[in-house]
Amino acid sequence: MAKSNLEQDILKVLVTEEELTKRVNELGEELFDKFADKNPIFVGVLKGCFIFMADLVRATQIKSELEFIGLSSYNSGTSSSGVVEITRDLQKDITDRHVIVVEDILDSGNTLSFLKKLLEAKGAASVTIVTLLDKPARREKAITADYAGFVVPDEFVVGYGLDYDQQYRNVPYIGVLKPEVYTK
Ligand code: XMP
Ligand code: MG
Repeated sequence: MAKSNLEQDILKVLVTEEELTKRVNELGEELFDKFADKNPIFVGVLKGCFIFMADLVRATQIKSELEFIGLSSYNSGTSSSGVVEITRDLQKDITDRHVIVVEDILDSGNTLSFLKKLLEAKGAASVTIVTLLDKPARREKAITADYAGFVVPDEFVVGYGLDYDQQYRNVPYIGVLKPEVYTK
């Protein structure tokens, strides 16, 4: 294990590196079976998707393209405001294309319900939502993921792309922060 000064802030590990690898590979196989003949576009939601997206597309060995979208739900601290803004739009026309949305976590559902409508309005042939984590406890919008890696409890999680205040994205597993980190 590499040296780390991040781990001292982690209260507990929720999903280990081994569990992440195994589950992402399973998701890749399921996506292959569904999209092998569809030349889909993966649309990653920045920035939280970046590690999951990198692993997922390598686990899904199909002809496909990659795009990224930047969305912000005016997050202050650890909760969503409900107002979603596009901070970086898609660079490519997705009309009549099969889109696979890659998201780090489905929490209130505000972000993904906004994005699903946006992609449909842009003319996508289909929109499939893949989220690494699903936190159903705080759902505000009636939206479900087509594929979810892990269901997590109502705790703020970090690692494997997910941040707190832009930190901890490089923690290689999914963990829960010590409460004193938020109150510093
Ligand atoms: P919702 O579904 O509430 O989630 O629109 C939108 C975005 O909020 C972030 N989010 C989290 N980030 N740990 C994080 O690091 C969490 O527990 C968490 N819950 C929500 C995330 O960027 C998601 O895309
Ligand atoms: Mg996100």
